[in-house]
Amino acid sequence: MCSCEGPRWGWGHCAPTPILLLSLLSAAPFGLLGEETRQVSLEVIPDQVGTPQNLLHIRAVGTNSTLHYVWSSLGPPAVLLVATNTPYSNLSVNWSRLLSPEPDGGLMVLPKDSIQFSSALVFTRLFEFDSTNTSDAAAKPPGKPYPPYSLAEFSWNNITDSLDPATLSATFRGHLRHDPARAFANGSLVFRVQAFSRSGRAAQPPHLLHTMDTCQLEVALVGASPRGNRSIFGLEVATLGQGPDCPSMLEQQSINDEYAPAVFQLDQLLWGSLPTGFVQWRPVAFSQEKGNRESSLPCQASPLYPTLVYFLPQSPIVRAFFGSQDNFCAFNLTFGTSTGPGYWDQYYLSWSMLLGMGTPPVDALSLLVLGIMAVALGTPGFVLLAGGLFLLLGPKRHSEYQPIN
Ligand SMILES: *[C@@H]1O[C@H](CO)[C@@H](O)[C@H](O)[C@H]1NC(C)=O
Ligand SMILES: *[C@@H]1O[C@H](CO)[C@@H](O)[C@H](O)[C@H]1NC(C)=O
Ligand SMILES: *[C@@H]1O[C@H](CO)[C@@H](O)[C@H](O)[C@H]1NC(C)=O
Ligand SMILES: *[C@@H]1O[C@H](CO)[C@@H](O)[C@H](O)[C@H]1NC(C)=O
Ligand SMILES: *[C@@H]1O[C@H](CO)[C@@H](O)[C@H](O)[C@H]1NC(C)=O
Ligand SMILES: *[C@@H]1O[C@H](CO)[C@@H](O)[C@H](O)[C@H]1NC(C)=O
Ligand SMILES: *[C@@H]1O[C@H](CO)[C@@H](O)[C@H](O)[C@H]1NC(C)=O
Repeated sequence: MCSCEGPRWGWGHCAPTPILLLSLLSAAPFGLLGEETRQVSLEVIPDQVGTPQNLLHIRAVGTNSTLHYVWSSLGPPAVLLVATNTPYSNLSVNWSRLLSPEPDGGLMVLPKDSIQFSSALVFTRLFEFDSTNTSDAAAKPPGKPYPPYSLAEFSWNNITDSLDPATLSATFRGHLRHDPARAFANGSLVFRVQAFSRSGRAAQPPHLLHTMDTCQLEVALVGASPRGNRSIFGLEVATLGQGPDCPSMLEQQSINDEYAPAVFQLDQLLWGSLPTGFVQWRPVAFSQEKGNRESSLPCQASPLYPTLVYFLPQSPIVRAFFGSQDNFCAFNLTFGTSTGPGYWDQYYLSWSMLLGMGTPPVDALSLLVLGIMAVALGTPGFVLLAGGLFLLLGPKRHSEYQPIN
């Protein structure tokens, strides 16, 4: 796993002492220290049999651990997250088994006893609602539902052509296979996956923080014909719980700074107590490629509920790795409201999330904000204020987490 030696500076992580404060001032802009290096690589695993299928393996090798992310568009788009406690773990694929009706054992991370954490996310359905007659922005559902699109019924491009080793990214571009209404004739649903060879912040809003332990997914709906004039879209995400319980969904108040203006919140899905697997996102989506405040839409997440496997489109890679499982949980994300900007503006919608294993990256105050505060208050005042903030915010860390209702 991500072994975070030494303290990490972030809200609530450290006691308010002057030494820590000085360290905060001199810390890297991303508030992360003790950078363990990882060799991050991504490869497309070629299929030796049958119809070509996309299988993308991201491998982040550290001194004592390896993180594996396995993305595939075989069935609905899905990703496996596997953390091992050795730098020598490998992904083993038996294609003929993976593509068979009983894919159990077709995907393995070896040696099996090195696995410290494993789970999966499956993007199962795209929802569309007609919000024409919905005046209440908080209405649930946000309008009259159209029949959902099952993402298992999409066909996907060959990701090999989109693979960019320089940015460690690859793009899955899908459209409905059987599409009599030609909704996806000029459009696609895009899953852009990116891994990172160093810590940093995404160039695209909402500028999520990332580390070498994480990868980012941007989901975009581009150019597809909506079925109504004011269509609101939603995405259903399924995951595997650890044991009988669903992962917890937490809403964390976050610092509103220059990177995410007006978005005070960070939503997180955690599979257990830290360090664990996690998903993080800002509750915001964008209706223009150049995301900005004017094109930002609220992104609402429903609570996670245990869900019968039977009701979900099945992912062969999840089945191949985990065998038959019944501890699936699912939640819905809904992008936009009837009153705001929407997909209808430019037939564009995008939303990003970060997946990781270890300790989630935490926003610290950016150097710019610190600088402005320091100049405005003078150094003594600033030190007092910052110390006071830590006293106030430090111990509250856990109570700041609230389940999303
Ligand atoms: C994808 O394209 C590459 C090279 O362009 C080719 O070698 C490979 O067989 C193709 N795979 C799929 C899944 O079609
Ligand atoms: C890796 O493991 C060795 C032996 O268990 C330990 O001494 C070392 O501190 C570990 N290194 C890291 C970066 O965790
Ligand atoms: C792959 O799976 C098939 C079918 O289950 C099995 O017959 C074959 O021996 C496996 N191949 C390897 C290399 O394990
Ligand atoms: C919206 O309301 C109008 C007037 O009540 C009705 O004629 C129309 O069919 C409704 N549209 C939808 C999509 O429900
Ligand atoms: C797709 O784009 C073409 C050319 O821009 C246009 O003529 C056609 O009507 C579009 N089809 C759909 C279903 O939007
Ligand atoms: C969309 O709006 C146009 C123009 O206002 C209207 O003629 C059309 O009936 C609307 N379509 C739907 C599906 O509501
Ligand atoms: C997601 O939304 C759809 C459509 O409104 C609904 O049928 C489904 O039960 C919801 N799933 C969850 C997990 O809330």
